[in-house]
Amino acid sequence: MSDKPVLTIALSKGRILEQTLPLLAFAGLLPQEDVQKTRKLMVDGPDDWAGSKIRFLIIRAADVCTYVEKGAADLGISGRDLLMELRPHVYEPLDLKIGKCRLSICAPKETIEAERSKPAVGGRIRIATKYDYLTEQYYQQQGIQADIIHLYGSMELAPLVGLADRIVDVVETGNTLKANGLQEEVKLFDISSRLIANPASFVTKKRQVQAVIEKMRLAVQGMENS
Ligand code: PRP
Repeated sequence: MSDKPVLTIALSKGRILEQTLPLLAFAGLLPQEDVQKTRKLMVDGPDDWAGSKIRFLIIRAADVCTYVEKGAADLGISGRDLLMELRPHVYEPLDLKIGKCRLSICAPKETIEAERSKPAVGGRIRIATKYDYLTEQYYQQQGIQADIIHLYGSMELAPLVGLADRIVDVVETGNTLKANGLQEEVKLFDISSRLIANPASFVTKKRQVQAVIEKMRLAVQGMENS
């Protein structure tokens, strides 16, 4: 058995993974299996990468923060939206400039246009979202009481069936909004994926963690210039 230190990197499943792989390839950090096809959740990477053995965890985007915060992964790739919503205690050394989208308040056109639907300060509004904290924070700042309806996906449906007045969700191309007759009302902030690191690993595996950050930094530059 190898006595090399193991460096564990948590990758988000789904659409970010597709954009992550070219960056990993640029950094010489590719998994040994096709992570878009395999049902395995832990996949080996290079056996000897800057003196470390690399392994990848393939998990849901919302869980990456937890794995890295708790030290089950040394590094991870997470969207800025989840970092802002979950506020994990992790370092965020690099913007990977992938997974670009935005978090927005969206509603049916008629709701946006109807003056009467805009609740006055002190009024109430029903919002479907998985971003409970960010939504509550925004409406609190506006002096509006928001009733948060927590959903796990397909948010765009909620206003169509009267479950909510508006949604707070990620918008990338805008196709899902359009297909469901919704429009963006307010853009809350831009999102991209970030490389995150466990604070203890940053100290105990400093050389290896720094090597990944530096290689990924070069990969981001390389991708931008290509
Ligand atoms: C996300 C998001 C929107 C959609 C936005 O959903 O929640 O529904 O993508 O993308 P677009 O602007 O390019 O249409 P996802 O497909 O990840 O599934 P989910 O609804 O189950 O979260």
